[in-house]
Parts: sequence; C-alpha cells; structure tokens
Amino acid sequence: MTTTLPTDETRMSELPAHDVADLSLAEGGIRRIEWAEREMPVLRLIRERFELEKPLEGLRVGACLHVTSETANLMRTLKAGGAQVALCASNPLSTQDEVAAALVAEYGISTFARRGVDRDGYYVHLNAVADTHPQLTMDDGCDLVSLLHRDRTAELAGVMAGTEETTTGVIRLRAMAADGALRYPVVAVNEAKTKHLFDNRYGTGQSTVDGILRATNILLAGRRVVVAGYGWVGKGIASRMRGMGARVAIVEVDPIPALEAVMDGLQVMSSMEAAAWGEVFVTATGNVNIFAEQHFALMRDGAILANSGHFDDELELGALHRQCGGRIRQLRRDLQEYDLGDRRIYVLGEGRLVNLAAAEGHPAAVMDMSFANQALAAEYVARSHDGLSAQVYVVPAEIDREVARLKLESMGIAIDQMTPEQVKYASSWQEGT
Ligand SMILES: NC(=O)c1ccc[n+]([C@@H]2O[C@H](COP(=O)([O-])OP(=O)(O)OC[C@H]3O[C@@H](n4cnc5c(N)ncnc54)[C@H](O)[C@@H]3O)[C@@H](O)[C@H]2O)c1
Repeated sequence: MTTTLPTDETRMSELPAHDVADLSLAEGGIRRIEWAEREMPVLRLIRERFELEKPLEGLRVGACLHVTSETANLMRTLKAGGAQVALCASNPLSTQDEVAAALVAEYGISTFARRGVDRDGYYVHLNAVADTHPQLTMDDGCDLVSLLHRDRTAELAGVMAGTEETTTGVIRLRAMAADGALRYPVVAVNEAKTKHLFDNRYGTGQSTVDGILRATNILLAGRRVVVAGYGWVGKGIASRMRGMGARVAIVEVDPIPALEAVMDGLQVMSSMEAAAWGEVFVTATGNVNIFAEQHFALMRDGAILANSGHFDDELELGALHRQCGGRIRQLRRDLQEYDLGDRRIYVLGEGRLVNLAAAEGHPAAVMDMSFANQALAAEYVARSHDGLSAQVYVVPAEIDREVARLKLESMGIAIDQMTPEQVKYASSWQEGT
C-alpha cells in the first residue's frame, strides 16, 4: 500500500490535533495495523457495515485505550461509523509510537500518546481528549471517567454514555455507582463472555509469557513460577506457564479459585511461602501490594517480578527501592536490577502490565472479539442511551452471542442448532424420568 505522509507544512496543517513521538514512524505503524487487521475479521465485518449504515454519525468519542495496532483498528471502525474520535493512552508504557503516528498521519484520528510519557504528560493527554467534549467515553481502567468526574465536571452534562474495557475499571465504576457518584451509564465490555473468557484468559496468558520472555529470554521449563490471583487472567497465565514446562504455584485470597487451582493440579500456597519458593512472580489480582517488603526479604537471589494486573501497584516497588538504597541498574530494555547487597531482584517493565510494556499486548485475534464488543456496545449506547440510567450495564447477550457467532464463522467452523424437539425439551419442566 502506498501512503502520503506529512512531508510538507500544508499536509501538517490538515492533520487532526495530536501529540505523538514522531510522525515519520507512520509507515511502520500502517504496516503493523494492516497486519493486525488480518487477524481481526469480526471487527472488519463490523467496520464494513458501519461504513454503510453510519450508526455513530456525528458522535464525539473520547477513548483512553492502549495505543496498539489492534486499538487502531477499533478507532478506524468507529470513524467508519461516522464518529469523531480522539484517543489517548491508558498506560504510559503500552503506546506503540509508530501506531500513534499512523493514526494521525494516515487515518486522520486525533491521538495523544507517547511511549514512556511521565505522569504529568499522561494527564495532559487525558485532558486533551476531555477538551474534545466527548459524548461517549471508551475507557480501559476508568482513568478518563475518573478525570471527568473529578477535575472536568463541566464536561459531564455532555456525556451520554461510556464503555469500559477491563476488570479493574469495572470495579472502580461499580464503586462509583454504589456511592451515587457515577453520572452517566457505562457498559462493562469486560463482562461480555466473548471478552473476559478469551481476552483475559488466552490473550493475557500468552502475551504475559511473551512479555517475560522478551524482557529476560529466560528458560521457563522447570522454573518455579508463582501466579498471584487465579481469576481469568491468572488462569490464563498459569496454564500457559505450565504449557512451557514451568512449575506453577498460585497465591489467592478467595477459597473458591484457590480450590479450583488445586483441582487444576497446581500448587496453592500463602504469599509468604511462595516468596521463598518462587523464582518468577507474576501478579494478576487487580489489588495492591501483593508482593511487598516482607516478601522481598524472603525472595531468593535472582527472583524476577512482573505484573499483569491493570495498575502498577501490585508490586510494592517503593519498598524495594528503599531496601536497595536506589542501587538500580537497567540491564535490558524492560529489565531492572535492584541490588539489595546480599541478593539481586529483577523487575520487568517497571511493574506495569508486562504483556504491554515488554511485549505487544494481546494478539489481534483475541482483541478482535473484545473490540467487536466495544464497537457494538458503542452502537448500542448511541441508540439506547435515553433508556439507560447512571449505572454499570452488562453487554446485551445478543451482542455477545453475535460476536461469538461471527468469530466462529470467520474460522470456518459450523455448529449445530437445537431441533424443535430439543428446544421444547430444554424449555419444559414437565419432562423427566
Ligand atoms: N494485562 C492485561 O492485558 C490485562 C487484561 C485483562 C485484565 N487485566 C487486569 O488484570 C487484573 C485481574 O483481572 P481478572 O479478570 O483476572 O480479575 P478477576 O476478578 O477474575 O481475578 C482476580 C483474582 O485475584 C484474586 N485476588 C484479589 N486480591 C488478592 C490478593 N491480595 N492476593 C491474591 N489474590 C488476590 C481474587 O480473589 C481473584 O480471584 C485486573 O487488574 C484487570 O484489569 C489485565
């Protein structure tokens, strides 16, 4: 594909508002976006329909998502549906700078994202999206919703609805709704089965292993890996680690997933026991300080710490920083060594979600389903927001099933339908022995 990149000032002035690292990276970004698109047939079908039907015509969408090639394909879909889109990053380390450049230069989408931006820069970008007066917010971790409710309350009256991508964001939104603080309806995309059963489990499972390997290049076979949290993400990581030959132990606080882990054939132990046992530690709880000062004191020389939960507070890095007196060396791009004197501990991707910081996040084939849900949820709220109140909504079951149906179809897989006799049997309470 040929493309005209912004080589002259005239073209620059035609570009949408943006703050990206380097527009000259756009060519590489286009190639990445096209490669991802090949793996996203469901989103492509939706985009083709959106192009014809324009269900989002004139709608201002403010999105705060990981700026990756898969997200770029979602942004293209929303734009095809007629939306005016502004995008910022939902994590300072997950931005693919070439993709951000391509979004601006090739696809005409307002993008505010640079990999490695500091906290202030991160909020400048969020505010830039808020400045576009979004009518629909699309969040991954609830940072945009929080900003609007905390600092940019004047914008709230103009927002009709939102969508939220991840578990942690949904937890924050439910807490806001319970406090009566949430001011507009939000659809929890994470709650769709075609999202969390696949994205959280298979997507994060594989890409977390990928991130750890890219950051360290260690051999996993025979390695003792501790996974904290046996929810959808933890299950995915544990099963993929086991598939690589690692010996896996689970740390949990809920007896039900802990029991599930035992019956899945995994070791389950307390976090203190695990600290002394493990060689690689991965957190996936959505909670805070899972491995903290008391755990670091027990960890062996060479222990590797990574996080795949949404926020970077699952590892208490402040304590590790104090313990090592600031003796930190950057050994590889996403690998830092903390020198504790008697031992060295290694941290990947500064404790930010390792699958995005050190690898490329979920494979596109999985994001195809998550983002199909996002696109269809946006269409749903654009149509139905009048009937919704300021609560957290699940994705309508018809959308969920439609995403699964289209995905199977794209894989060339046919399934059965119940016969009329089976429909009657399955809905009757009078049938029995
Ligand atoms: N890295 C990614 O790309 C990615 C993708 C999806 C979700 N996430 C994030 O991963 C996190 C987990 O998501 P999920 O869908 O698996 O959530 P989940 O609710 O299904 O599972 C979380 C598990 O952690 C356990 N837990 C909570 N506190 C704990 C503690 N102190 N010690 C041990 N276990 C504890 C809970 O009991 C639960 O079983 C969230 O922050 C979510 O936003 C990240």
